[in-house]
Amino acid sequence: PADVVPQAPEDPLFGLMRAFRADESPDKMDLGIGAYRDDNGKPWVLPVVKKADEILRNNPDLNHEYAPIAGIQAFTSKSAELMFGADSPALKEGRATSIQTISGTGAVHLGALFLAKFYKGNRTVYVSNPTWANHHQIFNNVGLPTAQYPYFDKKTKGLDFEGMTQALREAPDRSVVLLHPCAHNPTGVDPTLDQWKELAAIIRQKNHFPFFDSAYQGFASGNLVRDAAAVRYFVEQGFELLLAQSFAKNFGLYGERAGCFHAITSPGPGAAETIARIASQLAILQRSEISNPPLYGARIASTVLNDPKLFAEWEENLATMSGRIISMRKALRSKLEELGTPGTWNHITDQIGMFSFTGLTEEQVLRLRNEAHVYMTKNGRISMAGLNTKNIDYFAKAVHKVVTT
Ligand code: LMR
Repeated sequence: PADVVPQAPEDPLFGLMRAFRADESPDKMDLGIGAYRDDNGKPWVLPVVKKADEILRNNPDLNHEYAPIAGIQAFTSKSAELMFGADSPALKEGRATSIQTISGTGAVHLGALFLAKFYKGNRTVYVSNPTWANHHQIFNNVGLPTAQYPYFDKKTKGLDFEGMTQALREAPDRSVVLLHPCAHNPTGVDPTLDQWKELAAIIRQKNHFPFFDSAYQGFASGNLVRDAAAVRYFVEQGFELLLAQSFAKNFGLYGERAGCFHAITSPGPGAAETIARIASQLAILQRSEISNPPLYGARIASTVLNDPKLFAEWEENLATMSGRIISMRKALRSKLEELGTPGTWNHITDQIGMFSFTGLTEEQVLRLRNEAHVYMTKNGRISMAGLNTKNIDYFAKAVHKVVTT
């Protein structure tokens, strides 16, 4: 019958992008989707990615054959080293398995599917309030309900650590806990390393199951190792965990869908056998979902990850991106303070990564869109990369206006 499929709402973020494109105002500003822009407001192809592309194009041996089910091995193994450290005990002891995915979304989905099939603990996935909107539907679509732990403190516009830890203590034992290792989306608010240690202790005590979604390694602080510190701490503590790894932001490979999914099991006798069984099941899931992953983005990332000279250049490119964002944070904060815009604005420089959770209300967000052609998500999140030296004054004045009138 014609009425069995109800109309679904448009994806809010991609709907926002569409509205932005349709807006003909010369002043329009896109602070919506989390994608890096240069100081001219243009997408930036990382110079190191251009070099890798050149290398690939000049390689006469490359063809378009299928990748193995688990993807390009040189890519997945280096991705694991990047995240966990080349000297990670989990890698050395053969307690990790890695599989190439359709970027971070594909990795979260594969992990969700794996949990839906095999997880015997509490099948509710605890996510931060708020979290990346897609998290809820990725888990819900495979039959895993989501629940929320408090995360953002509206008063301080920082972390509600009390609320978070209390909720994790009160959650049923053996719940799945989804964590953003750095540059939390959408808030830009991260726990400190000491707070991560406390979180790890609670997760251990409650036998919760940590699932990390890492989309901003190197993009947050500009330092790949620092941005992996929380994850590496959990691995050092011997946790069994899952990790989704995206290369969309840190390589600027958004549409190429390069990513990895990693599973780590705890140390002990039989760990390597356990991980082999997990890998075998992941291969079955992968085969039925996508057969094998796409080549181009992974080849680019792999070329860089496997070449020390290109790797060093990549780190410079990361510093360029994170540095520009940090300078925009400083500029925005000082402009709002100079204007005397009511409220406190220190959170703009305290927060980290692609986004700032401004604290603007939905009404103010909609006024910014209608009156100033500024596009941001309704929750008050702005993509910091959408700001540049040419439009930041305009934005600060527009914010001042909707806050004061
Ligand atoms: C975002 O939150 O803007 C990005 O992660 C893009 C996306 O896919 O939602």
